[in-house]
Amino acid sequence: MSSSPTARLVRRLRTWALSAAAATVLVAGVLAGAAAPAPAAGSLPCDIYASGGTPCVAAHSTTRALYSAYNGPLYQVRRASDNSTRDIGLLSSGGYANAATQDSFCAGTTCVITVIYDQSGRGNNLTQAPGGGAAGGPDNLANATSAPTTVGGHKAYGVFVAPGTGYRDDHTSGIATGDQSEGMYAILDGTHYNGGCCFDYGNAETSNNDTGNGHMEAIYFGNIKVWGYGAGNGPWVMADLENGLFSGVDQHYNANDPTVNHRYLTAMVKGGANQWAIRGGDAQSGGLSTFYSGVRPNVSGYNPMHKEGAIILGIGGDNSKGSAGTFYEGAMTSGYPSDATENAVQADIASVGYATTSTGTGGLTPGQRLSLRATTACCTSDYLRHDDADSNVAISAISSSSSATDKGDATWIVRAGLSNSACVSFESGNDAGQYLRHSNFQLRLNANDGSSQFAQDATFCPQAGNNGQGLSFPAVNYPDHFIRHYGYTVYLATDGGSNAWDSATSWSDDTSWAVAQPWA
Ligand code: AHR
Ligand code: AHR
Repeated sequence: MSSSPTARLVRRLRTWALSAAAATVLVAGVLAGAAAPAPAAGSLPCDIYASGGTPCVAAHSTTRALYSAYNGPLYQVRRASDNSTRDIGLLSSGGYANAATQDSFCAGTTCVITVIYDQSGRGNNLTQAPGGGAAGGPDNLANATSAPTTVGGHKAYGVFVAPGTGYRDDHTSGIATGDQSEGMYAILDGTHYNGGCCFDYGNAETSNNDTGNGHMEAIYFGNIKVWGYGAGNGPWVMADLENGLFSGVDQHYNANDPTVNHRYLTAMVKGGANQWAIRGGDAQSGGLSTFYSGVRPNVSGYNPMHKEGAIILGIGGDNSKGSAGTFYEGAMTSGYPSDATENAVQADIASVGYATTSTGTGGLTPGQRLSLRATTACCTSDYLRHDDADSNVAISAISSSSSATDKGDATWIVRAGLSNSACVSFESGNDAGQYLRHSNFQLRLNANDGSSQFAQDATFCPQAGNNGQGLSFPAVNYPDHFIRHYGYTVYLATDGGSNAWDSATSWSDDTSWAVAQPWA
């Protein structure tokens, strides 16, 4: 066992929680009010916050339970085919999301996330955000399959916020108001962000309008520089305090707030009477760093605070919705969590093992020659092929009587992935040195120019076919985009995205390919 201070603290908290569960319940109940659920003995984030005397009053995750004793639904999805909904729960009490429920419910259609349930027992569920002062609504709902991940070795899905997407709860229970103390954390995709306002998770206005300085206190992540910013080019974790994203005490630049872009990022903000802090770290390993901790900003309106207690995800307080990001889990507390409590939460997060799904060969072996046959009913005699007239990639019927050229065009040699040898690339069977790659989301056959861009664009990480047949091929650099035929041309498509070839109709069939004997 490790003997780091953090590990010792986790063990101490666990032991304490186990031996004094009744006292924990009592302390949490007194602090959070009579309606607080009895926190379970255990070591998940909200167990740890409760043990530290700052219980969760909102707990949101589409990937796992945040209390050891939680065994309710994590989120709800709605499918396009018949508008019916399904709750997605856990594989076991206190465990991980049952992603297979979503996969079977959404097979052959598209799903959006309609509700992210509050695990705290306070009913602070996040649902489709209404229009607000900065932008109309209701906001878009997240595509349920756009942020695949693994957690604890299990497949799960995060909440993929494309610009226009937003969740909110304007009628909450137990969330800090006025100058009351609170803490919050979120696990985000540190590589998915933009400079739009404002990818937030936390406390905001109950009216969906900008009601003035200090009326918000939320985690912000992105690289907008309109208000505050930190070192480097961003993205940064900042606090959205309304009419300002703060990176520290100064309204604008604070050198101690670093650019952070861990693939899985832990972001924390906490605020109390004339004190607040920003902390962050790598959600896959290591501890937290403190990016700011001190007094309230030196600008009027932020001390005391005027928190209103709504909860937002993916938008600004006034429903500004130009931002992008991905959320996996997060919670808000009653009371100002100690650094030690937050460190213990980070230790749990790092122990869980968030990891990308974007590796694997689907059983394909470098050197293997193969052909890839479409599985959509229209096209089961058609094979993935390049076109000698240009660099396009298409599907067309190939049979034993096809010309040698057509057979060669429909034959591929599996290579170790050019950008990641845990995945694969496909070299043409008859044009040595030319690889299948995407460019502007269309598949092409191009010569390998040795650039890292080419290597990325030519690397795919095969997984079980989206329709249950053969294999599907997500791009290593766009894990939610798959090789797909559409109108007999081949694209890189996401389910229900904005390009014509992202059409949800036939998406899972068009992205599933049978591995066939090589034609040449
Ligand atoms: O504080 C930054 C943003 O300013 C808030 O999120 C929004 O309400 C306002 O536009
Ligand atoms: O690519 C052939 C067909 O074209 C696809 O099955 C369908 O999505 C599109 O109409």
